[in-house]
Amino acid sequence: MLKLGVNIDHVATLREARYRGRENGEPDPVAAALACEAAGAHGITAHLREDRRHIQDRDAWKLREVVKTRLNLEMASTPEIVGIALNLKPNIVCIVPERRQEVTTEGGLDVAGKVAALEETRKRMNDAGIEVSLFIAPDPAQIQAAARTGAQFIELHTGAYAEGFGSLQAREAQLERLITGAHQAHSLGLKVNAGHGLNYRNLPFIHRVPHLVELNIGHSIISRAVSVGLGAAVTEMLRLLQGYSADVV
Ligand code: PXP
Repeated sequence: MLKLGVNIDHVATLREARYRGRENGEPDPVAAALACEAAGAHGITAHLREDRRHIQDRDAWKLREVVKTRLNLEMASTPEIVGIALNLKPNIVCIVPERRQEVTTEGGLDVAGKVAALEETRKRMNDAGIEVSLFIAPDPAQIQAAARTGAQFIELHTGAYAEGFGSLQAREAQLERLITGAHQAHSLGLKVNAGHGLNYRNLPFIHRVPHLVELNIGHSIISRAVSVGLGAAVTEMLRLLQGYSADVV
């Protein structure tokens, strides 16, 4: 069965737009995580960024406390965040690029350029009982390098596929890259996740990619929640307006 990890960062983005620097506020990414689990999601994904632009440290700790499925912490391989992850003990970390110099031209992590450093981080995580995934473009050299780090998973970056989806030619070309990349990763003993930019239209074609374990999807699910939930939210507010009288004294 193909699993779904829901990325709840965008819930925190919305909260931070109004409540930055304050302890509480809405919407709450932790409540969102619980709703995703209740709906059947197989895991919760959150990215603790160095600039804390959405998920805050307190969110990460609360998520660790309440998430019953699988907590996937997306993170940069930097001393501060590695230290936090080792204490937090998510089930898995997905190492993503955060600074420009770590990014390949296609947006994935440049594993080939830093195998030794990533292997070191991978070892420290594994020693703490945390699995490791590397977020990479479906590029043969990066997949090969990922295997050399000893990571358990790669997450294939589907951003170029999502971007090219509107053009049949680009879509097919990007799908071919994902298919080839998944075969290569599988043959190297890597487990394969995928994510970024997947949505309700482009997802069905992803069924053509073999060996997938889990998809990590954020923006389109949170966007859809706004669309399908807006009517109910307005209805609730209208109910609160009922019974008002302009003659109130
Ligand atoms: N996977 C990784 C590694 C990510 O960093 C993100 C967030 O950018 C996602 C998946 C989810 O992407 P999206 O929000 O486009 O679904």
